Amino acid sequence: MGERLLIFDTTLRDGEQSPGSSMNLEEKLEMARQLDRLSVDILEAGFPIASQGDHDAVRAVSEEIRRPVIAALARANQLDIDRAWSALQAAARPRIHTFLATSDIHLKYKLRKSREEVLKMISFAVGYARSLCPDVEFSPEDAGRTDRSYLIECCHAAVEAGATTLNLPDTVGYCLEPEYEQMFAEVKARVPGMERVVLSTHTHDDLGLAVANTLAGIRGGARQIECTINGIGERAGNAALEEIVMAIHVRRDALPVETGIRTEELYASSQLLTRMTGVAVQRNKAIVGRNAFAHEAGIHQDGVLKNAITYEIISPPTVGMTSNQIVLGKHSGRHALVQRYEELGIRLTKPEIERAYSLFTELADRKKSVYDEDLIAIVEEGFDHIPEMFTLKLFQTVASSDGRSTATVELEKDGEAFHDSATAEGPCDAAFGAIDRITKTPGTIVDFSVHTVGPGVDGVAEVTIRARFQGVEFSGRFTSHNIVEAAARAYLQAANKAVYELRRIAALSADRGPSPAHENELVNRYFPGGY
Ligand code: KIV
Ligand code: ZN
Repeated sequence: MGERLLIFDTTLRDGEQSPGSSMNLEEKLEMARQLDRLSVDILEAGFPIASQGDHDAVRAVSEEIRRPVIAALARANQLDIDRAWSALQAAARPRIHTFLATSDIHLKYKLRKSREEVLKMISFAVGYARSLCPDVEFSPEDAGRTDRSYLIECCHAAVEAGATTLNLPDTVGYCLEPEYEQMFAEVKARVPGMERVVLSTHTHDDLGLAVANTLAGIRGGARQIECTINGIGERAGNAALEEIVMAIHVRRDALPVETGIRTEELYASSQLLTRMTGVAVQRNKAIVGRNAFAHEAGIHQDGVLKNAITYEIISPPTVGMTSNQIVLGKHSGRHALVQRYEELGIRLTKPEIERAYSLFTELADRKKSVYDEDLIAIVEEGFDHIPEMFTLKLFQTVASSDGRSTATVELEKDGEAFHDSATAEGPCDAAFGAIDRITKTPGTIVDFSVHTVGPGVDGVAEVTIRARFQGVEFSGRFTSHNIVEAAARAYLQAANKAVYELRRIAALSADRGPSPAHENELVNRYFPGGY
């Protein structure tokens, strides 16, 4: 039996702060519930000083999720730490996670501080956090590019001041595996008092090495790893939780650790995050991609039919992936539908069951067979947590070969109908233009992707759109046989989120006047990653 490795999930903090992955409070809570089912050991719920929304999310997660440790991030100063601690008040097992950059590059260009000043700040911040909370983590940001002797001094200062976990981030995804492993081995050997402290990895994927570096850190002595579902996170992302967990599960012969993760919840966690953020994983993504267990080549199919271990090192149910066969048709009842949703990791409330069933029967009337992807699409379309401000009642487009297309749109809001039309180069742009004219919140498309859902001629188009409204990005997704309709509805979803969120921010400032936290919320939203 291997030593126990702690899984620190930062999907709701490092993951959520990456552009396009933002979630509202209810979405964060739903994700936190799933992370609890997955059995993560530590759940980093946010960066409370960064925004009122982050503070509220950490507080709400602390109130409801009782089993894992709940961590909140703070820069190395009293104001940040107080804010993190106030958000953690209700937590059963709180942790303050404080960080300060230690590389010469960050000291010179970002902090404009000397090494001595930074050492003092570390001692103060960790000591102050420890005076409030018995569980304190310290991260020397950009440890991967920090001079090794100075890093040892910083770690020593943190341990002396009472840090219980030391996390060594490769903030910019720069390290190669032997370097990252060596850093852990050296810190463990040279920092006095390390026997009382848990060492932790935190890796980014800029060179595609985040998971490999995490495993290297474990070999170097780390017993906590920081990671996110689907590997979401700053720039190229963080280390993907599902990949590390399954590497440890499959190769327990070669790795000295084991995790407490319930692997059967991995697929549901990945799907839920995709639903919450609108950011899908690529088809060939390890462990949770649509093709991760698909065998196309005849020779492979033959082998798998004879014995799956010929070409499969993981059986799909181990990660909670059910087979992708036809599941339901128009004669299927509510019970079968609910059961299938549960197999897909989606638990529905009674009103949600009714809504899903009605959408399912509509779809089953149009389509002979309903697939898992269709069921997921139904829930995505029917259960958006942002209240629908405008509903699409009707739209018509005329596409012309001379390059101009026209769209006429009818939207309804609070029982009132609004009509408008616009022309553009293509029918989708024309539909977006007409929607903008009605919502009066024009957006710019940042990303537009189409793929087919379900096999063969029975497949439908799923359009995912990311658009920028007043500097902030929102996403929408819709599935239909008609690509233009799917695009218009996906865009309207994003526009509804924008109208809702921008009004919420305006209402907040009208209610309270601009508070420092509120300003932070705006800064954070308009300049993500700018802390
Ligand atoms: O990448 C990083 O250095 C971080 C720290 C705040 C831990 O996310
Ligand atoms: Zn990070």
